[in-house]
Amino acid sequence: MKRVDDFRLQFGRHELVPIMIGGMGVDISTAALALEVARLGGVGHISDAMVPTVADRRFKTHYVRDKLKRYKHNVANSDKSEVKFDLGELAEAQRLHVGRTMEAKRGPGLVFVNCMEKLTMNAPRETLQVRLKAALDAGVEGITLSAGLHLGSFALIEDHPRFRDAKLGIIVSSLRALQLFLRKTARLQRLPDYVVVEGPLAGGHLGFGMDWAQYDLATITAEIQAWLKKEELNIPLIAAGGIFTGGDAVGFLENGAAAVQVSTRFTITEECGLPADVKQEYFKAGEEDIVVNTLSPTGYPMRMLKHCPAIGSGIRPNCEAFGYLLEGGNCAYITAYYKALEANPDTKTLSVEDKTCLCTHMRNFDCWTCGHYTYRLKDTTRRLADGNYQLLTAEHVFRDYQFSNGQQIALPD
Ligand SMILES: Cc1cc2nc3c(=O)[nH]c(=O)nc-3n(C[C@H](O)[C@H](O)[C@H](O)COP(=O)(O)O)c2cc1C
Repeated sequence: MKRVDDFRLQFGRHELVPIMIGGMGVDISTAALALEVARLGGVGHISDAMVPTVADRRFKTHYVRDKLKRYKHNVANSDKSEVKFDLGELAEAQRLHVGRTMEAKRGPGLVFVNCMEKLTMNAPRETLQVRLKAALDAGVEGITLSAGLHLGSFALIEDHPRFRDAKLGIIVSSLRALQLFLRKTARLQRLPDYVVVEGPLAGGHLGFGMDWAQYDLATITAEIQAWLKKEELNIPLIAAGGIFTGGDAVGFLENGAAAVQVSTRFTITEECGLPADVKQEYFKAGEEDIVVNTLSPTGYPMRMLKHCPAIGSGIRPNCEAFGYLLEGGNCAYITAYYKALEANPDTKTLSVEDKTCLCTHMRNFDCWTCGHYTYRLKDTTRRLADGNYQLLTAEHVFRDYQFSNGQQIALPD
């Protein structure tokens, strides 16, 4: 019986353990987690979601406070058109977050950054371009473009000196999305270095509609693989979403995937950015607690624990401080908030049912997004005398994927 360790992911001169840890915003996949994975010989991701906010937390900068100060006069206004990010500050925050992480990197693996296109930041093109260029400036080894079609993203950095040397990949959930991307970027003569095929059991936002349950990762991966072969395109495929054991991973590697991208198993590791009490919520979750809903203002369905504080919360939009999902001065949460306020003008505790203020709740770790198999996390550890579950190290989980046989899961000592 084969183990993950019998396979290798070849990226140019790098020979890697074929395990990639997915980017989990906002700072759930921390620099510490990505660095540990790189030390172990895999590929770790940080995420640049809400990067000024993350930089403030990591480096005691004041990007959020300063932005709020600039736009405080607009807080009660539902029109957020004037609330913009300072592109110089955004670049600085990104260079800090990425640069400091790269400086600390040790070992044979790689550190990539996950960039969500759907963080439109009231100036989608400009802000994404700044984030991508600053990440390349700061020495990131690869960029994974996620959440959004990214049809113009490669062109935003085509004049950057590292455009052809850094690894660039995209996340897709269908062959059609990949075909569109390749058609749109053909003139650049630059294929993605890898394609993450993300199925419907992943955490975070899903690249499917609410009919997600009708799709399955193995089928989509096989379809994309067959098409690439027909077109004689040699792009490594990385399967993601619901790969819970080493045996699951081997199944994909034997069928031609170059690597797997995994995340859920790492949400309860010491290095993960979620607060300790939230990690216990992930452990405790039953299958019935995990839902896919349409609360995200991005328009993509999102998977989360159904009792997380973000659901039903009616806080005032915080766009002057955050505003990462603004587009044309609006966000679907603003619309939902003012609609709820109009319907309940006298209420003291407003509840907004249609959407959630994702910026605020991700920032506060109150939106507990998770993968479908989160309910199996309790089976990967031991129960302590106080009733809590024992946290694992990233090394333990990584090595379990790498060396376990079949569906076995190694419990901690
Ligand atoms: C808590 C959590 C947050 C996530 N956030 C993001 C994100 O910000 N961007 C992204 O591209 N994918 C995100 N994902 C998806 C993962 O990167 C990954 O592709 C997927 O969850 C892998 O499946 P698994 O969790 O079943 O292992 C997130 C996943 C989890 C569990």
